Amino acid sequence: QKYNFGMIGLGTMGRNLLLNIGDHGFAGAGYDKDATKGALLEEEGKDIKVKGFSDIKEFVASLTTPRAITMLVPAGKIVDSVIEELLPLLDKGDILIDGGNSHFADTNRRVEYLEDLGYHFFGMGISGGEEGARRGPSIMPGGDKKAYSVMKPILEAIAAKVDDVPCVTYIGQGSAGHFVKMVHNGIEYGLMQLLSESYEILKNGLKLDGDSIQKIFAGWNEGRLQSFLVDITADIFKYRVPGSDHLLLDDIKDEARAKGTGKWTSQAAMDLQSPIPTIDTAVAMRDLSKYKALREQAATLYSTQETEKLDVDQDKFLVDLEQAFYFSMIITYAQGMQMLSNASTEYNYGLNLSEIAKIWRGGCIIRSSFLNDIYNAYEKDEELKHLLLYEDVANLVNETIPGIRSVLSKAVANGIAIPAFASSLSYFDAFRSKRMPSNLIQAQRDFFGAHTYELIGKEGVFHTQWVPKNGSEI
Ligand code: 6PG
Repeated sequence: QKYNFGMIGLGTMGRNLLLNIGDHGFAGAGYDKDATKGALLEEEGKDIKVKGFSDIKEFVASLTTPRAITMLVPAGKIVDSVIEELLPLLDKGDILIDGGNSHFADTNRRVEYLEDLGYHFFGMGISGGEEGARRGPSIMPGGDKKAYSVMKPILEAIAAKVDDVPCVTYIGQGSAGHFVKMVHNGIEYGLMQLLSESYEILKNGLKLDGDSIQKIFAGWNEGRLQSFLVDITADIFKYRVPGSDHLLLDDIKDEARAKGTGKWTSQAAMDLQSPIPTIDTAVAMRDLSKYKALREQAATLYSTQETEKLDVDQDKFLVDLEQAFYFSMIITYAQGMQMLSNASTEYNYGLNLSEIAKIWRGGCIIRSSFLNDIYNAYEKDEELKHLLLYEDVANLVNETIPGIRSVLSKAVANGIAIPAFASSLSYFDAFRSKRMPSNLIQAQRDFFGAHTYELIGKEGVFHTQWVPKNGSEI
């Protein structure tokens, strides 16, 4: 028996992907040093064609050629050591796929290294967590386009489907797949932060209990905010500590962890000079949350009184909050898409933004009904320079502005921190400005460093001696 697809790393994600492959009639082989994982795979997949190996040579020999082997191992040095272990066993033309969340710069390095040796290397973003891997993830493969044809039938079979369309497409050359997955995660960070700020407003601003908050999120998910993250958030407010009436959420420490993909998105955006302030804020707030001891100390100095209940008409305010979330969600996606557009030019990825929005509509963590609007925008206008410049999107944004302004002003006046909402609105207000106050920055730079400035309606660069030397009057 030969196997069509190989998987290295049989943790839950690896096993689930192989089971998914087996479900679709392909034969999948898995390798893990830990033989119990292979045994577990065979046990879980006893009715389908999957086999576990703990000997890497036997594993490689069991695969049809050209081989397609996916690594699902932790990002970083382990990927390099697995590659080195595999290399002597491979034939030229074989395809190695890194299905983890590797940094795109590492992927570029590996593509180059392996291509020189005659192998294909794919950086492939996979989103959807354990459940997605098992039932259908969103898949973002990047690498050599010709080699993609070997993987395509299997990936299309196992990917999530929206209206029968598989949530996988060839993303682009080099590290394009991992870059797009990284930005997906940046958007994920932004949306999660916006949801946690919504929770803060509902709990601390409106003083609502868990059941009421649950109903509000569940209601959002019935309408235009329908999305995986809103849906699971509503479910979190249902879960009680077994045998009690108590929400588990209330017992969870308020220190958010991160594996780094959000930070990488912000770092890469800075390199591209592509502003994504909502996502940056989400990264910063996870970091700030970790300073628990300092926050507690500061609270004794500055938060001596309970936050007062917002003095608002609750029903009207909830309408505003729904608008505020919709507004900020649009801004978050818009920042991410703009970053992809800039990266495509800068790194020659050849990204197709409508295809990317299309494969994000199902399977992945940021799937939402708004992705249909994004897909339509980039599909109808291939030259679209920014999502906010698309008329249908502008109409949605215009309609939600009263809500975001109202929510923000109430929260600010009451000392409730909602920085991602604030950042989204300020990004928008600056983006729609014909004139920003940046002329003053240019004047200051020229003042202290003779960095020069440009003048409106006049060619060239200029420098001014802003105050007379020797201290005399101007
Ligand atoms: C996905 C997720 C997945 C993972 C993140 C979590 O698309 O399935 O993004 O990749 O959950 O790595 O990231 P943090 O640990 O940084 O929150």
